[in-house]
Order: sequence, then C-alpha cells, then structure tokens
Amino acid sequence: MNVLGIDIGGSGIKGAPVNVKTGELLAKRKRFDTPQPATPDAVADTVLRLVRHFDWDGPLGVAFPARVRRGVAETASNIDKAFIGLDVDKLLEERTGLPTHVLNDADAAGVGEVHFGGGQGVKGVVMMITLGTGIGSGLFVDGHLVPNTELGHVVLPGGKVAEPFAADRVRKAEKLDWKTYGKRVQKVIAYYDFLFAPDLMIVGGGVSKPERWSEFGPLLTASCPIVPATLKNDAGIIGAAYHSSTLK
Ligand code: BGC
Repeated sequence: MNVLGIDIGGSGIKGAPVNVKTGELLAKRKRFDTPQPATPDAVADTVLRLVRHFDWDGPLGVAFPARVRRGVAETASNIDKAFIGLDVDKLLEERTGLPTHVLNDADAAGVGEVHFGGGQGVKGVVMMITLGTGIGSGLFVDGHLVPNTELGHVVLPGGKVAEPFAADRVRKAEKLDWKTYGKRVQKVIAYYDFLFAPDLMIVGGGVSKPERWSEFGPLLTASCPIVPATLKNDAGIIGAAYHSSTLK
C-alpha cells in the first residue's frame, strides 16, 4: 500500500508518497512554506495543496509538532494555539476528503528510523531525539512506540528547560558555535540517558546531516551508542506514512 506522508513543521510543510513496505519515497518530496500565521485553516489548505500536487487519492499519514491523542492536538509550543483541542485528523479529512492519521512529529521520525533506518531490529529501549525549532522525542521499547513523551519540556538539573536551552532554533538565534551548542545538547542527552537508560539514541534534525555529524557527533556521549538519523529529513514523512498504514 502507498500512503502520502506529510511532515508539518514550523517553517515548511513537506510531503511525498511512500511505499510503506519498503519505506521508499515514490516521488520527489514537495515542500511549501508553512503559512504565517499557521492557523488550522491555513495549514489544512497547505495540506490540500500537497494532495493536489501529487494528484493523491489515498490515505494520509501526517507528522505534527504537538502532543496528539486519537487525532486531537493537545499542546502547541511551536504552532498556532488554535490547534489546542482540535481534532486534526477530522480537520484534514474534511478538507481533503481522504482518510488521515496524525501523530507527533518526533514519534513519526522515530517510527521511520525504527522501521527503515538506524533503529531497525534494535531490541530494548530506543530513543529518538529531534533538534529543530523545538526538541522532540520518540521512545520505543522493542520497536513499539510509547507515544507523546515530550522530553523537550523536561527541566534539566540546574533548572533550565531542555527546548529553550538546546533546540537548533536557539543555536541559530544566539549564534552559538558548534562546540558551545554541542555542550548544551550533551547536557540534555546526559539527562535523558540517566532517566531512561536507552540501548540506542538516534539524533535527527540538521545536525544529522553527514557533513555536520562528523564533527558534531563526537561532542556527544552516553552509556549507549548515539547515531544520526539515517533517513534525515524524510524520517517524519516515512514514519507518519508507515504508522498510518498500521491503523484502520
Ligand atoms: C513539541 C513536541 C514536538 C517538538 C518538535 C515541541 O515543542 O511540544 O510535540 O515533537 O517540539 O517539533
């Protein structure tokens, strides 16, 4: 089965049709700027543009930057507050006329990595951490997702909250050099390691690009291996599509 995977982010809304058996993209990814303000109505219209771009007439799997339970967005740290309490599955189904499943973006990226990337076949606890506009987390036990862990909002020892301390957006805003930024991310990683004792940590976002990871990766240590996301920017699209195919 093929599913149109869509990743809704703070700056871009990206999508591509995905072969959910292999995790392959069936066409070149398409990106539209996230409308500003990113109201539910404007975001739904952009999703419809993606559907039309691919002339799509099948299910949608959507990665969304919030806590999501049974299709309903429950938080909105980096998106329009009007999404809180909204049934996003229903909103997008009504706008596109297509069956839709929405899940948290970091959960989606983790699902992509666990099924088709660096987390394949790993037993035990796998933690996906995404460094972007926010900090997202996806937790897996023997390949099964524990959804909505929201570890970007954890208070670190010393009193700082992880996301406003070490999201990639903060690196850019404060013009931090990579070494200084690496030290911040290491504080976050060390605390997650202490709290969850994972068997593998997968880091996604811009730092996972091979040319960046070769320098950034060595700045991070934990009691388990730490690897970059192998699906890079496509992890959310692929994971959301796959996840949707596992649901009714
Ligand atoms: C949100 C999470 C999201 C993360 C990455 C956080 O601010 O609360 O739901 O996964 O940003 O987008």
